[in-house]
Amino acid sequence: MEVFDVLVVGGGPGGYLCAERAAQGGFKVALFEKKALGGTCLNEGCVPTKTLLNSAKLYRHATESAAFGVEGTAVFHHDQVIARKDKVVKTLVAGVGVTMRNNKVTVVKEKAVVTGKTANGFGVKAGEETYEGKRLVIAAGSEANVPPIPGVKEGLESGLVVTNREILDEKTLPQHLVAIGGGVIGLEMACYFASVGVKVTVIEAMPKIAGPTDPEICKVLMDTYGKRGMEFKLNCKVLGVTAEGVKYEENGEEKFVACDKVLLSVGRHAATAGIGLETLGLEMNRAAVVTDRHLCTNVPGVYAVGDANGKLMLAHTAYREAEVAVNHMLGIADEMRYDVIPSVIYTDPEVAFVGLSADDAKKAGMNVKEVKLPMQYAGRYVAENERGTGFIKLVLDQDRKRLVGCQMVGSYASEIIMTATMMVDTELTPARLKKLVFPHPTVSEIIREAIFAL
Ligand code: NAI
Repeated sequence: MEVFDVLVVGGGPGGYLCAERAAQGGFKVALFEKKALGGTCLNEGCVPTKTLLNSAKLYRHATESAAFGVEGTAVFHHDQVIARKDKVVKTLVAGVGVTMRNNKVTVVKEKAVVTGKTANGFGVKAGEETYEGKRLVIAAGSEANVPPIPGVKEGLESGLVVTNREILDEKTLPQHLVAIGGGVIGLEMACYFASVGVKVTVIEAMPKIAGPTDPEICKVLMDTYGKRGMEFKLNCKVLGVTAEGVKYEENGEEKFVACDKVLLSVGRHAATAGIGLETLGLEMNRAAVVTDRHLCTNVPGVYAVGDANGKLMLAHTAYREAEVAVNHMLGIADEMRYDVIPSVIYTDPEVAFVGLSADDAKKAGMNVKEVKLPMQYAGRYVAENERGTGFIKLVLDQDRKRLVGCQMVGSYASEIIMTATMMVDTELTPARLKKLVFPHPTVSEIIREAIFAL
């Protein structure tokens, strides 16, 4: 039997980049994928949702363009948007396949089940074949949480209830969508549907939406979407789902919202069940594989990257983790840093943040100075946004004279955040930052304005 240097279980961003980098490092690699290369990100996450959100943004621009001196009629064809999304996904998935071929990675399109340690390292069974590898990478991704709410199971079976996966294949728009969970998935999908005229209600168990996102940013989102007819039910407990809608509890009172589609967006968990991990004696934290800063597990030679280690379920985290894991295999000094990873919510307006909030920095004992500036300080923002309510916050550690965080909401935030990320990561001083020349007019100039305001 052929013995590989590296076996990678899972072909999402963590797995395929790991396979690519390991092959480039001179290893003989096999990659196992039971569905489609690209994993959640390419097939049912990042890429398809951004394709949909772009169409929704175009539609909103068309329907709200009178203020910009442009009038016309816009018709939204949801089915065509879904068809285009399928084309985009197909192109990118094929691209991953080409990359694997070009790097001579053996791709096995079967479910892989780990069979345990062998004389050569580790064993994996996929289809009828068995494989052995000196090293093993668990990159099995994550799946949607399905809480034991009465009626949810039946709803999933009937199609009334959907997760992030099924909602991307709905060919018709619902009349009224209820999103259970106002986190990243709930908000991005709510944004899409509300932007194209669907009534949307978000039911969130916590007192605020969007988890750790700056509360003032959350207010901008809620105000913006409130004006577009979206309703937010915060601090509410979902009691059950029926064929007619969702029962929930608000301030101790039972309420009901009628709807024809329910999105379940209440978090995700590592998809590590049923793939034989128990045969290795891996240390687990619930479903997640416990890893260190090199992505090593407690079993030498076994790594876990991406959502499977449950640390930060973001494709860009998985990419970096894959590189760190391969560097460890190659004996190249490297380690994972989780504190300067940018987060983006692709709503319209976009939300992006990196590093520490002022509150977190204070809790960490820093002597904090924070500046908040409206995006209106950037000429291009004013030119392109009517009554825009975007803003930026920069957080400075005054003793070390270093930027430690940035939060923003407004157009292009998803692109601009990388500038702030580099500033926080490379620890440039404000004196040095002031000398950076930003292209004019761009919304990114808001960073320069905020540095001078600091
Ligand atoms: P999430 O953890 O972001 O949000 C789940 C929300 O559901 C939380 O606010 C929670 O309080 C709420 N919740 C939980 N149980 C509930 C219940 N019974 N009733 C009402 N509310 C309830 O999880 P989400 O949105 O499902 O996303 C999963 C993962 O996917 C996240 O880790 C996220 O990082 C990743 N993701 C990232 C994106 C991005 O970076 N733009 C986009 C989409 C997903």
